[in-house]
Amino acid sequence: MKIKLGVFFGGKSVEHEIAVITTSQALEAINKEKYEIVPIYISKKGVLYTGDALLDLQEFKDMDALLKKCTKVAVVNDGESVKVLKVPAPAFGKQVINTIDVAFPIVHGTNCEDGTVAGYLNLLGLPFIGPDVVSSGLGMDKIFMKKVLKESGIPVVNYYSFYSEEYVNDEEKIRKEINDKLKYPLICKPGNTGSSVGIKKVSTPEELAEKIEYSMQFSDRILVEECVQNLKEINCSVMGNLNETEASVCEEPYFSDEILSYTDKYMGGSKTGDSEEKGMQVSDKKLPADIPDEKRDEIQHLAQETFKLLGCSGVGRIDFLMDSKTGKVYVNEINTIPGALSYYLWEATGKSFEKEIDELVQIALRRDRDKNKLTFSYDQNIFALSGGAKGGTKGSKVSKK
Ligand SMILES: Nc1ncnc2c1ncn2[C@@H]1O[C@H](COP(=O)(O)OP(=O)(O)O)[C@@H](O)[C@H]1O
Ligand SMILES: [Mg+2]
Repeated sequence: MKIKLGVFFGGKSVEHEIAVITTSQALEAINKEKYEIVPIYISKKGVLYTGDALLDLQEFKDMDALLKKCTKVAVVNDGESVKVLKVPAPAFGKQVINTIDVAFPIVHGTNCEDGTVAGYLNLLGLPFIGPDVVSSGLGMDKIFMKKVLKESGIPVVNYYSFYSEEYVNDEEKIRKEINDKLKYPLICKPGNTGSSVGIKKVSTPEELAEKIEYSMQFSDRILVEECVQNLKEINCSVMGNLNETEASVCEEPYFSDEILSYTDKYMGGSKTGDSEEKGMQVSDKKLPADIPDEKRDEIQHLAQETFKLLGCSGVGRIDFLMDSKTGKVYVNEINTIPGALSYYLWEATGKSFEKEIDELVQIALRRDRDKNKLTFSYDQNIFALSGGAKGGTKGSKVSKK
């Protein structure tokens, strides 16, 4: 019996297209002898679709035509299994299109990777690949993530964070605190965007107000941090769960601008955008990264510690900032569902993409088994206890005196 793998992809996010590319790469690699793919496409409007046309990346060039070939669906748990249903229900014929055993969410960015999809899959009662709600949320939130990592002794750059509202109320106080606490040059970022959106370098105190106001257009929370000098960026992927993790070889992504831009990340530096199908995998990079073995070991260790501290599961990519003169490394961020699922890093580590996905399914099933051992609710109905509704609700907030 094949495992029915529900691939949930797309989503209401600026990184929608990147998720579609990652998905097409994953669909090619999935072992079709072992898994039946049930594609569930989440449109930019949040509508769910299924259909074979979703398996072909070329179809995405004409969205209207593609969606006409697909079926609108709802995914529901009816107490027996998780089913994919046609919506609206057809007047004739079956409403149930398929069932799903394990979910494989491939979504990036806000409204998806931030715990939204994890929560949705939890509610459906489906085992799923990737971190649970809290870890996903922490992973997307640059400020909360830094607080947790700093508290746990993981090296992060010195930073200062605040709500835009607080800045509007007393901007001078906030700028003074930043100037007192941090050493220039600084980097100003929105608290929860991705893909370098809203990020600016601040070279002098005179520029601070302007750069903060720029970042405030993208988020209601702002992070100002010290800029790492002689910057070398190093990324390392981690697979596993709380009990067991494995780190990949490290890569060194290149950047053409001061800040690695969206175009650099996803179009391989091309400004024309004609290489969109290549996605993350062709971004210019050095693989493995050109760093001494001890640095590599240190980064791989920190990457696994970060993954575990944030309670991650599945595959993540931890991005580091390194001062190439002093050798000091800092964890910059984690991607809990990394672009291309970091398959190129795992291939370079000796694990095929097919094997990576196979292991991810096993990790998801194992977490589900472990979770089922915990107590989340009682089968007993307290309303049915002796005394009935009157006596049974003693002490409950709904009881009336
Ligand atoms: N503290 C820093 N020092 C130096 N460069 C930084 C710093 N923070 C970010 N950058 C640069 O900006 C890029 C984007 O910032 P990052 O925090 O990774 O945001 P995003 O989620 O948009 O990728 C980084 O890849 C790096 O090139
Ligand atoms: Mg980044």
